[in-house]
Amino acid sequence: MSQQQEEKTLIIIKPDAIQRSLFGEILGRFERKGLKIIGMKMMRIEDVVIEEHYEHLKDKPFFQTLKNYMQSSPVVVMALSGVNAISATRLIVGPTKGYEADAGSIRGDLSLSGQSNLVHASDGPETAEKEIKRFFEEKELFDYKKPDYKLVYSEDYF
Ligand code: TYD
Repeated sequence: MSQQQEEKTLIIIKPDAIQRSLFGEILGRFERKGLKIIGMKMMRIEDVVIEEHYEHLKDKPFFQTLKNYMQSSPVVVMALSGVNAISATRLIVGPTKGYEADAGSIRGDLSLSGQSNLVHASDGPETAEKEIKRFFEEKELFDYKKPDYKLVYSEDYF
């Protein structure tokens, strides 16, 4: 069994999710999994922030359409925490292209697109740390306890 560790990750609920009224549906999936919301806000993503966030794709032919899409409406950014939160959220989100994603994942259930794929989730610990800092100031992140913590996480609760 892989090791369990408390992690934080960055989620973006992208413009198509806001336009298609899927924000609640998507948030609910993360919430029901047991992940804790430690930061959340609505924003329009500025040019420089998108260019930094998708730096690894800047030479791709689809970069301009990706930028247009990401700026086509406000997004909601969230920081989530929980046991193995980074890999757990990537599984909930599913692989990049909606038409290839497994049923049960957000993209698999709700997207048929390779670009308008509803949600971003950090892909590793280093990226998650950088991405949370990119979108949140320290004072916008909350440290608090939830009473369901032991039921959600503990393997020796009963
Ligand atoms: P990437 O970081 O490769 O995927 P993921 O979002 O699954 O971590 O790509 C970032 C976004 O770029 C992706 O969510 C949608 C867009 N994109 C395209 O529009 N076309 C493509 O061929 C790829 C690979 C990505």
